[in-house]
Amino acid sequence: MLSAAALDWPRIQQRGGLEMRLVLWLLCLLFAAVAGEKPPSAVAVVEGSEPIGAGNGEARVDDEPDREDPEVFLPTSQWQTLKPGQAVPAGSHVRLNLQTGQREVKLDEDSGASKYVRDGQRLVNTQSPSFTAQELKEALKMFKEGVEDSRTPEEEASLKAKFRPIDELKRDMAELDMLMETDAQIMRRLITQFNNSNSTVEEKVKALVDLEYLVHQVDNAQNLVPMGGMKLVIDALNGTDFRLQESAAFVLGSAVSSNPAVQVEAVDGGALQKLLMLLATSRPMNVKKKVLFAVASLLRHFPYAQSHFLKLGGMQVLADLFQTAGGDALRLRIVTVIYDLIIEKELISQTGLDYIPDSSYQERLRQYDQVSLLPALPEQGWCHLVPELLASQDHDWREKTLRAILAMMPYCQSDYQQNSVLLSSLSTLQKQYQELVLIEQDLGEEDGYFGEILTLLDTVALIVQ
Ligand SMILES: *[C@@H]1O[C@H](CO)[C@@H](O)[C@H](O)[C@H]1NC(C)=O
Ligand SMILES: *[C@@H]1O[C@H](CO)[C@@H](O)[C@H](O)[C@H]1NC(C)=O
Ligand SMILES: *[C@@H]1O[C@H](CO)[C@@H](O)[C@H](O)[C@H]1NC(C)=O
Repeated sequence: MLSAAALDWPRIQQRGGLEMRLVLWLLCLLFAAVAGEKPPSAVAVVEGSEPIGAGNGEARVDDEPDREDPEVFLPTSQWQTLKPGQAVPAGSHVRLNLQTGQREVKLDEDSGASKYVRDGQRLVNTQSPSFTAQELKEALKMFKEGVEDSRTPEEEASLKAKFRPIDELKRDMAELDMLMETDAQIMRRLITQFNNSNSTVEEKVKALVDLEYLVHQVDNAQNLVPMGGMKLVIDALNGTDFRLQESAAFVLGSAVSSNPAVQVEAVDGGALQKLLMLLATSRPMNVKKKVLFAVASLLRHFPYAQSHFLKLGGMQVLADLFQTAGGDALRLRIVTVIYDLIIEKELISQTGLDYIPDSSYQERLRQYDQVSLLPALPEQGWCHLVPELLASQDHDWREKTLRAILAMMPYCQSDYQQNSVLLSSLSTLQKQYQELVLIEQDLGEEDGYFGEILTLLDTVALIVQ
């Protein structure tokens, strides 16, 4: 993943920065050697230091004035006439006086105070970088060792400003490299990071979060199994850390969503038992939410998992959770899981009516036949539990609850009829929604949302009263 690979960037950048600085210095030296028509150039070697290249015949970068020079000219802010043979420091303005035919020199306007000071026989540039051989050696050493040098923040900023385009180019190239890391490579890296006993819990959670992002892709989710990631994730469900349980359930839920091949692997890998164990024991709410998400994804359109779930006592676990759940949000999710299971089976049986059944369809029908969810609903208390959610203030939750009540009708009708709380809340809600429908109609909405809820209320009331 991008974010993970981006961790390497500061290191690249730092190294790049040092390289850039060395290049800058070398450019300064080169520039000085080329641009200074004659010594003295912009670069001075100060007294007492060993001149660069001395003794080995390499390019002279020192600016020791020629001994033969009678005098080195020291420019001021005024034009001064240059005597024949006098050397002119680089950066001076030189003009030919057409009247006298003489050359005149003054300081560069921009430079303000004199850049040049006389240092014995030598002219030393006080503004351009000035290096002794020792300093340059130190700089090279620092570069080799990757040691950050001691520039002031201002110098740092001006260097950054100068080389920004190159930095950006490098960053683009680094990003390109990251993009070229395939999903499979990233997944392997994340799985290794997660599996490494030296990783902190934070690092492991981060690896799982990144993995969760990747397994939304069908291929990636399927690769999780041969890579060994599926087993690690399922193992983490009964690990010791809540944060890992939560993230592992999240990865699992996303990997199996609409992915039958992975659903099979997860169920055969024992995921359902561990998920149900997490739901049945005391866990923080955010763990339970992710676990419920994983359970729902595992069961959806997968009768094989649904039969397993029923055999493992999944409905009883959900009923217990419903009664201890800290909030209606989790309760509504539970009811939605049950509603989806009922409706899914309902729809598959109905499809058969106008559908030319093939063998796989027959097999699915046979599998769904083994899922006998409905008969167990009354004895597990669901006929009483689900209507409790009608007390919610949320229209959307009431709507979903009414749909679930209707879906459970074949087995819950007599329970509903004896449920005085349900009967009274039905009539209260009918009045409330009749008023809301009037307002809706005043606003010009004939088939509005409140009208839809009222229709559901009327239907339930008609059957149970
Ligand atoms: C964990 O750290 C130790 C010591 O730093 C090291 O020897 C070992 O190879 C590391 N293990 C893994 C799996 O990286
Ligand atoms: C996880 O680590 C264990 C031991 O460190 C190793 O045996 C196993 O193969 C690793 N699993 C994966 C999927 O990398
Ligand atoms: C998790 O469950 C497996 C078997 O399902 C067991 O081998 C393992 O020891 C358990 N881990 C923990 C930490 O309880």
